[in-house]
Amino acid sequence: MNPKQYAFPPDFLWGTAASAYQVEGHNRHSDWARWEMEERKRPPARRRIREPCGRACDHWNRFEEDYELARSIGVQVHRPSVEWSRIYPREKLVDREALAHYRTMLQALQRRGIKVMLCLNHFTLPLWAASRGGYTNAKMLLPAFEAYVETVVQYLGDLVDYWLTVNEPNVIPTAAYLGAVMPPFKSSPLSFVKAFRTFMAMHSRAYRIIKERFPRSPVGVAYSYFHLQPLRQHNPLDRAGRNLAHLAINRRFFQGIAGGRIGPPLGLGERMPGLEGALDFIGINYYSTSYMKGLFPVESKPGDLVTEMGWIYYPRGLYEVLHEISRLSPRPIIITENGIATTDESFRIRYLEDHLKEIHRALADGIEIRGYMHWSLTDNFEWQHGYSKRFGLIGIDYATLERKLKTGGQRYARIIGDNGFAEPAPPDKEQRP
Ligand code: FCB
Repeated sequence: MNPKQYAFPPDFLWGTAASAYQVEGHNRHSDWARWEMEERKRPPARRRIREPCGRACDHWNRFEEDYELARSIGVQVHRPSVEWSRIYPREKLVDREALAHYRTMLQALQRRGIKVMLCLNHFTLPLWAASRGGYTNAKMLLPAFEAYVETVVQYLGDLVDYWLTVNEPNVIPTAAYLGAVMPPFKSSPLSFVKAFRTFMAMHSRAYRIIKERFPRSPVGVAYSYFHLQPLRQHNPLDRAGRNLAHLAINRRFFQGIAGGRIGPPLGLGERMPGLEGALDFIGINYYSTSYMKGLFPVESKPGDLVTEMGWIYYPRGLYEVLHEISRLSPRPIIITENGIATTDESFRIRYLEDHLKEIHRALADGIEIRGYMHWSLTDNFEWQHGYSKRFGLIGIDYATLERKLKTGGQRYARIIGDNGFAEPAPPDKEQRP
């Protein structure tokens, strides 16, 4: 029997993703840096952030080495982000040196023939903005964000191939303002709604600013489109909870893009100026499935296969999400994040290939998927979990900062080189001696 082949389209883009705060190090003007310090004052058992980010991977100084490794893997597109608090350490102060440094970093990718997908906001805020209400104070935040986006577009725009306005506009409202697991650790439905609406406005404003200067540059969003299931399949409360969560955190954003209006529970159907049509491609971040028990999320149930994050191993969910999103918002799709926290490289390879198989299946159905970016190029600071979770294709020894390509990274390099992979045929018993 021939091995099953998973060949990808000739122009399929293979890439990697990362974010500024998680790799650069010493982003001391960011809200996260302050929260990490505050958390140190709590007794260890009550800390909500495991450890401070500190120098992270020192990517700020070691980007050449990281990008050289990316080149050796065969990466065709890389997704970094710029840190707002580095560029604007104070509201009206632009740090020109930081901007120049970012230029050098993006040029280092370009020089290696690696395309740049630049994200403008990935989970962090400048401290000065966070301390004035952050995402819940749209009146303050939106003009400041616009000024920052204008600056980035002006100084770095010529080096960018693809733009991502914001990372996961649904996750910070949910995790930081409703679920209280990320700073500012709130659980307020009203703040959730405010933050979500601010993210939608940030997205549409950034979209317009970029398009004005670079009309042909593709602009997207990196969206964590949650695969959600009722915990108990036939329980009406779990089904209702699942449907409400699905509506609020998955569908409303894309319906807003389609019709320009914000529907309940995020709004009353009112128009948001500039929102309609503000999307050229959809970036999908996919990791897992999860459950709703009434109105409460449940990460997994006994018997589920989970990763070190506690997230369920569920490749099929990616296929279903791709189908759903392509019906809801027909646009080209790029997988902007997918990966696994593990120290077991055979598990990483299995995760990678099983998810690629689902993408391959969706491609065969005619869904327009243009590329795949693995999370993450290197091990990095995994937010509240600190350095305990290892998502990298490249391992980092945090004592020496030494980088080393993992077996999973080698496997990804082969997949890129072959533009796909073949599944080894199961051993044929009769042919064995
Ligand atoms: C995503 C985030 C990314 C990383 C992965 C594991 O939600 O965008 O920064 O933390 O999860």
